[in-house]
Amino acid sequence: MANPSILILAGDGIGPEVMAEVKKIIAWFGQKRAITFDVAEDLVGGCAYDKFGTPLHDDTMARAQAADCVLLGAVGGPKYDKLDFSVKPERGLLRLRKEMDLYANLRPAQCFDALADFSSLKKDVVAGLDIMIVRELTSGVYFGEPRGIFTEGNERVGINTQRYTESEIARVARSAFELARRRRNKVCSMEKANVMESGILWREVVQEVHDKEYNDVELSHMYADAGAMQLTRWPKQFDVIVTDNLFGDLLSDLAAMLTGSLGMLPSASLGAPMKNGRPKALYEPVHGSAPDIAGQGKANPIACILSFAMALRYSFDMGADATRVEQAVEKVLAQGLRTADLMGPEGGKPVSTGQMGDAIIAALDASL
Ligand code: IPM
Ligand code: MG
Repeated sequence: MANPSILILAGDGIGPEVMAEVKKIIAWFGQKRAITFDVAEDLVGGCAYDKFGTPLHDDTMARAQAADCVLLGAVGGPKYDKLDFSVKPERGLLRLRKEMDLYANLRPAQCFDALADFSSLKKDVVAGLDIMIVRELTSGVYFGEPRGIFTEGNERVGINTQRYTESEIARVARSAFELARRRRNKVCSMEKANVMESGILWREVVQEVHDKEYNDVELSHMYADAGAMQLTRWPKQFDVIVTDNLFGDLLSDLAAMLTGSLGMLPSASLGAPMKNGRPKALYEPVHGSAPDIAGQGKANPIACILSFAMALRYSFDMGADATRVEQAVEKVLAQGLRTADLMGPEGGKPVSTGQMGDAIIAALDASL
């Protein structure tokens, strides 16, 4: 059988630095576990614009469609702020999500014991936190038509459209219920059914899918604004949260910060199964390209490494090896290793991106 294939799109800013550490781990699997991945690399975002005049070349899009999964670093940077909207680095990422039809975006927010003090919330509110936000990723106001800036009378009007079909809601709801069954069996669905028709439909369809197919799972509904409040008040009441594209964007940033560092959190974006049974998939850290620290060896590679662990679990059915990587990360954190973003007020000496990667490799060695 052919080796599993991975397309790496490291992107901009700290993307290539954190991805370099993932490549070490991929190589480790080849050497120490005799699991060889066929790795190809290509450009996305600002670097693709610099070379091709577009943030995602059609050839790259085709390679992404053909790979078993895509690993993405980060896109964007101040250099590209003035570009026309249609060629901004983010458009490359949005095109990948849309054309690969990656409708279920899994964003775990997990608080590592060693970092519980880093949260801006009280330690007992966040210690042991383990929730999963499932964000719809290919529809809603991010993609709805009509959209644009138009002229009406003597002024301009900016328009975006929130739009969801039943089937779009149902499929992401199923992803959330399936995940919940493998976790603590609870789903909370968030929308604004009090003000939006799309929210009313969202609530109805999630409830229908639940009643017909998943009535063993505990389901609740919450308005998204109240959800934001509950997430900061007592986040441990949640297990899986399912919500739309825009609310999911906001709520997942909020949830990420509960855990202390954005530099720690991975994500998976999953679509329908391909011919080989694997889901269409793209894995990326939740953090951005952090241009202010790019190229200095300061970036935290853990979110990107944990994104690769999610690839092992969801694309390659290697759950035990995914756990092995996650435990290696926990181990180095427990040993006190910290990149610059994890330095508390008491200070200390941070390790570099590369040193963090090497320490995780050492912990993987010790796991054999
Ligand atoms: C995210 C980001 C993206 C989004 C941007 C970079 C387009 O904020 O993945 O959460 O808004 O979806
Ligand atoms: Mg976001």
